[in-house]
Amino acid sequence: MKKLLLDVDCGVDDAQAIMMALASPGVQIVGITCVHGNTSVENVCKNTLRVLKVCQRQEIPVFCGAGRSLLGKTLNAERFHGQDGLGDVPDPQGAGLEQLQREGAVAALIRLANEHSGEVSVVATAPLTNLALAVRIDPSLPQKLKGLYVMGGNTDSRGNATVCAEFNFAADPEAASIVLSSFLCPTYITTWESACRNKLPWSFCDGWLAQDSEKADFMKRIFRHTMEVAYQDRFQREMVDGVGFVSCDSYAMAAAIDETLVTQYEEMAVSVELCGRYTRGMLVLDTVGFLPEQRNVFIMKKVNVETFKRMMMDALN
Ligand code: BDR
Ligand code: CA
Repeated sequence: MKKLLLDVDCGVDDAQAIMMALASPGVQIVGITCVHGNTSVENVCKNTLRVLKVCQRQEIPVFCGAGRSLLGKTLNAERFHGQDGLGDVPDPQGAGLEQLQREGAVAALIRLANEHSGEVSVVATAPLTNLALAVRIDPSLPQKLKGLYVMGGNTDSRGNATVCAEFNFAADPEAASIVLSSFLCPTYITTWESACRNKLPWSFCDGWLAQDSEKADFMKRIFRHTMEVAYQDRFQREMVDGVGFVSCDSYAMAAAIDETLVTQYEEMAVSVELCGRYTRGMLVLDTVGFLPEQRNVFIMKKVNVETFKRMMMDALN
């Protein structure tokens, strides 16, 4: 069994990624920690519980984490994911917040890493506030992880949240910086460009949503708003290398689930820009060796698209 601990800001693509992990027979999700990001942390908790309910997996513990970035500012992506983070589709018998664990997300991250020491990988598809807080409380946390898989950052200095920064890093640059410099476990990053350059055609999405299942029906409803936005000119200009279906968080999740998925990684030292007027939150790549600390990570370049498609299909099956 592959053990995963998920840290999410459950918008639509986080939901897609969570559903992929839930559908993978060799995966045990030891917990899901929630953090601000696409929407408020309260919505993120509700959305995560809602996804687990649709998939009938409510035994997985869900923990509420940070509601703001380390410096207190928040960004959101409600324009893209809807005000509630899941496409503003009413949820009449909604999973209530009473199903949340009493323990907070940061304490849970530290405890679960200890309980599954050497066996568990963290998949973070959100601003990295919870992880940064956890490593400040327990600096030995990273050495207990098998790996860290992050969706965040960018390689071509073009942003999707600010002119030069990707959303998850822009939403908490200090946290991204702390995590990249302190989590010395093997670290695999799906950047905005990694996802865009491995995008799927919209025709795949049509067949994916047309599957005859409750999960596909749920996805069809919560994804409608995002799909409409994705066709708008403003969004299409954010995309790298042409338009298509880009489920960003699913790439980081798939990489954690199946080590054969990624056919090309690039290893290099990285940092995060904290000061720039236009570049704050940008992932900084050191291809030469200029940075004082050579903190190497693996950046996703190419994936086996057929394997990825199969994992996406299975998620809604
Ligand atoms: C990232 O930002 C969020 O809106 C998505 O859920 C994903 O984690 C993509 O830049
Ligand atoms: Ca996300």
